[in-house]
Amino acid sequence: MGGPTGERDSFNSKKRQADQTDAREAGLDILLRYLQAQAGLDFRQYKPNYLKRRIGVRMRATGCSDYLQYRQFVRQNPGEIGRLINDLTINVTEFFRDVDVYEAIRSKVIPEILEFKRKSGSFSIRAWSAGCATGEEPYSLSILFQEHIRRAGKEEPWMLRITATDLDDKAIMAAKEGHYEAVKLLPGMKLGDFFARNGDGYRVTEEVKRPVRFLILDIMRKPPLRHLDLILCRNVLIYFEKDKQEHILRIFHQCLRPGGFLVLGKSEAIVGSKESGFAPYSRKERIYRKA
Ligand SMILES: C[S@@+](CC[C@H](N)C(=O)[O-])C[C@H]1O[C@@H](n2cnc3c(N)ncnc32)[C@H](O)[C@@H]1O
Repeated sequence: MGGPTGERDSFNSKKRQADQTDAREAGLDILLRYLQAQAGLDFRQYKPNYLKRRIGVRMRATGCSDYLQYRQFVRQNPGEIGRLINDLTINVTEFFRDVDVYEAIRSKVIPEILEFKRKSGSFSIRAWSAGCATGEEPYSLSILFQEHIRRAGKEEPWMLRITATDLDDKAIMAAKEGHYEAVKLLPGMKLGDFFARNGDGYRVTEEVKRPVRFLILDIMRKPPLRHLDLILCRNVLIYFEKDKQEHILRIFHQCLRPGGFLVLGKSEAIVGSKESGFAPYSRKERIYRKA
């Protein structure tokens, strides 16, 4: 039944819920600030629901019932901070992830870049793989460029430089190794041209590895890269809030040369590409060009 007592109870219960939510949010903020102070990584830029889901996994694994209790656990168990960061930066990746996208880079984007360079009399190509995880993405790109450069022959002294960056130092270490248990190629490619057998797995050849330089870098920070021909940033923007995505896109815009290409993940897109300074090049494959 309604009435003044019922209304008061309902009001009090709503207020209690709101207070609990505020306390939870404050606890999360304290935990994230602690992470920033200890590890220098600002995860407050990530989508809250994503953070809550991933941190919740660690909280359940460690038997903590709220963020403050979990922060205390992190403080007392030095190994936990690394495990949490590892869980927050998911490194899922593979060679030539989304074959149609890499086929478009192979058959359209790279030939356009080479043609532009030939016309401008420069044989230097610069690309950036942002959020490169364990290296499969920049090595896939290196393989694609090698294919074209080999075909061009010795008369054209191509110089390729791919900068590959990620926040996760363990992923970068694995990437530098260049050893993989499983590899994948595009149709028409021969395994032995780009990989050598190495124990149970494969190692990328020196030719594929040499042009790739790996760096630990937060994508929110502008790297000293200019006049790039191509940026791959695939399956990274999805973790960020819209205003942070816009900030990252502005960095990309500054790093690309006019007409330079940007390739996003299949579930990512530039909304309002005019204002962002990018024009769609191949919508289905999420390829854009700096206008
Ligand atoms: C799902 S993987 C994508 C790997 C690859 N780009 C691909 O599409 O296969 C996401 C990567 O983004 C990286 N990452 C997440 N936040 C980052 C940040 N703030 N700065 C740089 N890299 C970040 C993660 O460490 C992870 O390696």
